[in-house]
Amino acid sequence: MLKEMESWARKAGRLQMDNFQKNIEIDSKDRKIDLVTEVDKKSEKILVDKISTAYPDHSIMAEEGSNKSNDSRYCWIIDPLDGTVNYVHGFPIFAISLALYKDDQPEYGLVYLPYFDDFYVAQRGQGSYYNGKRIHVDEDYTVKDGIIATGFPYSHQESNESLELFNKILPEAGGIRRTGAAAYDLCQVASGVFSGFWEIELNLWDIAAGILLIEEAGGVITDFKGKTLRMDSEQVVAGNKQVNYRLREILNK
Ligand code: IPD
Ligand code: CA
Ligand code: CA
Ligand code: CA
Repeated sequence: MLKEMESWARKAGRLQMDNFQKNIEIDSKDRKIDLVTEVDKKSEKILVDKISTAYPDHSIMAEEGSNKSNDSRYCWIIDPLDGTVNYVHGFPIFAISLALYKDDQPEYGLVYLPYFDDFYVAQRGQGSYYNGKRIHVDEDYTVKDGIIATGFPYSHQESNESLELFNKILPEAGGIRRTGAAAYDLCQVASGVFSGFWEIELNLWDIAAGILLIEEAGGVITDFKGKTLRMDSEQVVAGNKQVNYRLREILNK
């Protein structure tokens, strides 16, 4: 299964690299700063066509709207291009996130970074891997001395919520990073580069693969209350057990 998923991601990734830093069609969604490009849509079509051919009975949930609701225990969750704003501006952190859920639980997860040709993959019960090498969350650093990543939802111009949370964490953190691609942030937590992550207003397609990558790397990923993430959860806190706990303590202050 993962090999198959890798080959689909490679095909969409090739399209993304062929069009990277080129003149492409860019539109806005409801907010002017929430961009979607022809590359987001074409990447989604590549992935959805491949999945529909290989698994015609499975359901699909994809960011750009190619949804398919079948009476199936299996559902593919797709973010065809995570980090669209980075992509549009020519910043190379962008990813394809692909997950297969069975009975509302992630079974397989893959995040592919076309610019770096980097794969992060996980299968339930089989661990998480970065380009074939087993990865683990960081067990040594704490919030106080580690790097904590976050992201800001597109509502940041009309809501202060992200800023308020940021103001709580910054004085307590060793360092903060904002890469602009939530799926990638979660990979960095899974591989122990970032010690933790939090964000609000995320969608399942941003985190579906990342949830499994973190869990299979020995990490904990929950909502701000510490509850297991559901299909419709929007708040996310991740790290090792202690970092997840401490971040929630600070965020809920
Ligand atoms: C966005 C990115 C970003 C995060 C936003 C997401 P998109 O996804 O993951 O890092 O802060 O909340 O919406 O729109 O680039 O796929
Ligand atoms: Ca988007
Ligand atoms: Ca996304
Ligand atoms: Ca996207």
